[in-house]
Formats: sequence, C-alpha cells, structure tokens
Amino acid sequence: MEFDFDRIIERRGTDSFKWWGCEGSDIIPLPVADMDFAAPPAAIEALHRRVDHGVFGYARAPRGAVEAVVAALARDHQWTIDPTWIVWLPGVVTGIGLCCRMLAPDEATVTFVPVYPPFLDNSVLAGRPQTRVPIAGRDGRWEIDFDSLEALTPPSARLLMLCTPQNPTGTVLPRRDVERLAAFALGRGMTILSDEIHCDLVLDPARRHVVPATLDPAVAARTITLSAPSKTYNLPGLGCAFAVIPDATLRRGFRAAAGEFVPSVNALGYAACEAAYREGTPWRTALLDYLRGNRDLVQAEVASMPGLSMNPVEATYLAWIDARRSGLADPVRAFLAAGVKLVDGALFGAPGFVRLNFGCPRARLAEALRRMRSALPQS
Ligand SMILES: Cc1ncc(COP(=O)(O)O)c(C=O)c1O
Repeated sequence: MEFDFDRIIERRGTDSFKWWGCEGSDIIPLPVADMDFAAPPAAIEALHRRVDHGVFGYARAPRGAVEAVVAALARDHQWTIDPTWIVWLPGVVTGIGLCCRMLAPDEATVTFVPVYPPFLDNSVLAGRPQTRVPIAGRDGRWEIDFDSLEALTPPSARLLMLCTPQNPTGTVLPRRDVERLAAFALGRGMTILSDEIHCDLVLDPARRHVVPATLDPAVAARTITLSAPSKTYNLPGLGCAFAVIPDATLRRGFRAAAGEFVPSVNALGYAACEAAYREGTPWRTALLDYLRGNRDLVQAEVASMPGLSMNPVEATYLAWIDARRSGLADPVRAFLAAGVKLVDGALFGAPGFVRLNFGCPRARLAEALRRMRSALPQS
C-alpha cells in the first residue's frame, strides 16, 4: 500500500499550534511534536463515520477502543493487560500531573535531564520537590548514569519518572537499564511513572522498546504506564490518551487525584484511537521507513555542519542537537533569523542544545537544514 509522506499540506492559517504565527512568512517551524502528515486513512475514515452520526453527547470509551488498546499492547509489546487497568485521559501530560499530585507534599520526584519539559514543570506545579539526574553521553549514546542516580536520590523520593523512548534524546532504554531502574525504584519504595508515548516509533532495528510493567508482577504493581496513539498516528489534537495501572490501590489513587477536574476523552478521540490501533499498522510501517530516511538526512547534514553534533536517533522523530560549539550566542534565535523555528534545549534543562522535529516532508526538511547551515558563523 502506498502512502504519500512527500505531499505538502498547507497548515498555515489553520488551527495548528506548530504553525501558529507563521502566516505571511516562509519560516519553517520544526518545534512542537506533531507531524506535518495526514493521519492514517483508516483513522480519517472512522472520524468521517463518527461525524456523520451527527450526535456529539458526552462520550465514554466504546468497547471497540478498549479492545483495540488491549490488542495493540499484546501485538506490539507482548503485554497482556486486563481492560479494567486502563484509565482514559485527555492527554499523557495530564497523567504526568496526576502522578505528581498523588504524592504527599514532602515526597519527591526523580527525573533524568534533559527531558520533555512537563516532566519538570508538573512536579513544580504540584509543589513536589524534584531531583534531576543528568543523562550521560557515552560512546555516541545517551545513557542513564546509575552512580548519579544512586547518589542524588533523596530518601523522600517516591516517584521515578521515566520517558522511554526518551524525548528529546531519542534513546530507547535497553532491557538491562529498565531492569536496573525498576529494581532501584522498588528498592527505594518508589512508584514508576513510565511515559511510553513514543514506543511505536522505534527507528533503529537493533533496538526494542521494553515495557517496564512486563518485567514481572512486582514491577507491574508499582508502575503507572502512560501512552497514546497520538504521536505515532499523528492524532495529538484529538486528545485521547490512557494510563495502564495494574494495581487497584494505585489506580484508585490516580483516579482520586483526577477528581472531577480532568475532562473525559471526546468522541472523536476514541474513534480515531480505535481505528489507528486496529488498522494503522501498514501506515505506521511506511511512516517508520520515511522517518528513517529523514533521520539519516538530519544526521548526515548535522555531522557536516561546523560546531553542531548529535547522537544517532534510535526512536521518535526528534533530533537533539548540541550547538554549544557553534559559535552562536543564541542558537534558536540565529536559526529563526535564517528561517527555521526550533525548540530551545534550556526548556529541557540543557541550554546550548536545540530540538528539531523531522516529522515533515523531506523537501521541507532539506530546506530547513540548508537554512540552518547558512546561520552558522563558520560555514
Ligand atoms: C514524552 C512525551 N509525553 C507526552 C507528550 C504529550 O502528550 P499529550 O499530548 O497526550 O498530553 C509528548 C509530546 O510531545 C511527549 O513527547
């Protein structure tokens, strides 16, 4: 089956958050993590059917959506779950916030930096102290530094926040690291929050995503897994995500933290989620091939740009670029002046880095990279 990822779809002047402010300019925005591709045809058709029904009352998860999630986790991650473990959410970030709010005020969270900013912000917003453990760059890979983790984690830590595959570094945690992290968390009496929203976007065939909750029942009982079809199938604007929480007490605590203020998932989100998980595999396979081509282009170009460097991207459509030796005082501003909008690494806890989203047609990506090169003082 053919899918056309080269097609340019105009997003200027729509409701796009990513393209907001780009009207009347030719800036190429490569910041927030959504892709400039149309969603899988199966999801679009399901949305048409749901819209044609014409009644948009309050929604609850249709049985088909629940079954699709259960089947996808078994098919793609060898994880057999009970449907009652699923808690639907309007977003994974909501789930991150709820995990922080489940803690007592003096209980701390632990996260690795650099990391997706809501891992940092939600602990602050919830008023929970946070320990930030730097991720180490070793032999061309980003790795967990277990010595720092041991040394920095305070006795009051109760939540270990994992992001695998990791945003922004694109690293897939190897099984031995997942096992070590789980043993560490359980040994310290910590719950594990595992954000796996990028788990179906593994690009490197030598890497495999390991779901921490599949390690053993004791780990599953201490883990809150957060995921969604939104990154993989490009549906984030539809607000449909879920937590999988095998332990009933933990699940009750999570629901209690949600209280009455977390809205339910909307009808269109459920419809697209079900179709994407059920019928989206051929589209996803083609997408991954296309993203591998984009990743190769980014890596080759960045490697030849003076003062820029990056480690290979194992998963996600995000490139984490080290611009500290570029000679640019403010890389984001300089690249924007050259016509490319990126995200500042400072938001992730790593000033001097920039994050580039390569989920776009290749011709656009090539032009963005050309502009970035032109911004470099040594080029
Ligand atoms: C690691 C990670 N978690 C969560 C999200 C956002 O999730 P949601 O839109 O479902 O809140 C993103 C989006 O970039 C992400 O990269």
